[in-house]
Amino acid sequence: MKKNKKRKNQVRITFYPEGKTILASMGTTLREVIQKAQTGMNFPCGGRGLCGKCKVKTEGGLSLQTPSEQKHLSSSEGGIRLACQVRIEGDVRVEISPLSLTSFPKILTQGAASKVKVKPDIRKVYLALPSPDLENQIDDLSRIKRELKKEGVDGLSVDLSLIRELARVIREDNFRITVVLGRKKILGIEKGDTRGKNFGIAFDIGTTTVVGVLLDLDTGEEIATHAILNPQVAIGDDVVTRIRFIQPRREGLRVLQSEIIKAINKIVIELTKKGKVKKENVYKATFVGNTVMQHFLLGINPVNLALYPYVPVITDSVKVSASSLGVRINPHGELYIFPNIAAFIGGDTVGVILATSIFEKRDKKIRLAVDIGTNGEIVLSKKGRLVCASTAAGPAFEGARISQGMRAERGAIEKVEFKNGEIKIGVIGGGKARGICGSGLIDISSELLKESIIDSSGYIRPAKDKDIWKERIIKQGKSNCFVLSKKEESERGIPVIITQQDIRELQLAKGAIYAGIDILLEKMGVIRDEVDEVLLAGAFGSYINPDSACSIGLIPSFPRAEIRSVGNAASLGAIMALVSSEAVKKAERISTVVEYVELAASPHFQDKLVEGMELEEN
Ligand code: FES
Repeated sequence: MKKNKKRKNQVRITFYPEGKTILASMGTTLREVIQKAQTGMNFPCGGRGLCGKCKVKTEGGLSLQTPSEQKHLSSSEGGIRLACQVRIEGDVRVEISPLSLTSFPKILTQGAASKVKVKPDIRKVYLALPSPDLENQIDDLSRIKRELKKEGVDGLSVDLSLIRELARVIREDNFRITVVLGRKKILGIEKGDTRGKNFGIAFDIGTTTVVGVLLDLDTGEEIATHAILNPQVAIGDDVVTRIRFIQPRREGLRVLQSEIIKAINKIVIELTKKGKVKKENVYKATFVGNTVMQHFLLGINPVNLALYPYVPVITDSVKVSASSLGVRINPHGELYIFPNIAAFIGGDTVGVILATSIFEKRDKKIRLAVDIGTNGEIVLSKKGRLVCASTAAGPAFEGARISQGMRAERGAIEKVEFKNGEIKIGVIGGGKARGICGSGLIDISSELLKESIIDSSGYIRPAKDKDIWKERIIKQGKSNCFVLSKKEESERGIPVIITQQDIRELQLAKGAIYAGIDILLEKMGVIRDEVDEVLLAGAFGSYINPDSACSIGLIPSFPRAEIRSVGNAASLGAIMALVSSEAVKKAERISTVVEYVELAASPHFQDKLVEGMELEEN
């Protein structure tokens, strides 16, 4: 085996148990080395020493503990360090726990677009061209255009790169060709009759997950779905951490853009393999995502989205060729990136509004759509008028600010039920618990409230003598915690607990949603009694137990409203735009009519937030 040659000032970092060794310069952080080694390790707070979740087992030449390590590590954890804090001072052995690696998230997928008339922008026309001879020396392109005119198609432009291939392609099958037509240009010329091979992919670029759905553009039929973790999570869990990553680095934006394009291309490969489709026959892709993700996708610096007064570079939709972004469908294929509404209301919310049809003027009902992902977006509609707001509700539900919180992936406690002094927990993927995800957190809070272990202010009371939960309520510092799963039931060998601070984080998220909803109702001049329907969108909306959510008042009570989960509506919006040019027009219209409400600017926001933090049906 070839041995890495060490330069002066370089040391060896060996990863166990694989034994892989890489060279690193003294003084670099272990995080930089781990990222270079492409281990797939997760750095939830972007390496700022805040989350304490990048623990690795080490041995060798390392710097002294930083204050942030002292805060997150107990002295009994021999050799355990925070990879983002520790600097290399000599040869090092590192062991990364499989628990720190990003694993496949639980994804919600759904059936194809059912509520849209299939009429895509892209269609195929078969032509049997008259062969040229000395009497008929008309040029190749004019020959095609003349035949297209007979089919009622005129005035389309053609890229030079396509013209260059023309002479060869039309002669490969004796002048029998299929022309691929976009709205304003010819996108492809294929030899023979390839009608029926016209495909597209709808992408939902989430902060955490990227989902792609392959569809037959002629029929609207869903062929395959594939989802992967957004590789940018290795840089940071939330968009602000990712923006911070690009600020001091010239190449930072390029890194984030190329990560997302790589993920998209991985999905293209998987989908075309699953669907037995050639990627050259995929001519269109649509994209929804939050405003920051859409900026990253386009390689546009979103730095001002993280700075007061939070201004995006662009909110218009973008149409570009696949080759211009390096998306590996047919290079002439078209990409449609949804319009954004504001800094924190992106194309994904336009997708939700499109898919739920809440923008229709003739709709007499008053509807509220709540999409809780990494951010919480809220839209209220009344007879075609739309108001929307964004709340910073997501981090708690994505596990970011919860001591043993994690995303909804393998090992996460997603369901909790207390029964006769016993606790039943549901863990994603079965097996032992690693931590708690958003739906688990809501269940636990609801159960703790029912058992009076917490009161409506969120306070965890101390254990009482004859308490059936005595064993589980423990003291931690000055406050109490609740042991949800004992150490023998947990994958890490330490108990999974809910701390007082975790409950506070949930309350803050809940308060933000409550305040957002109330301020939108006020803006629209509507009272809760008048709301007809509450739509819970997003994967999270589909997994939370509505009873638990209602019992802690996560969604305020609407006496007359029907509460309905609408699944991954943003993704459905992207699907609709893929198969229907009419849906694209609607998406454009939605983005211009939605009124964005900046919650922080409301004089009532703080009061409403505090009011909404109470854990009770409200
Ligand atoms: S503490 Fe290291 S990534 Fe958060």
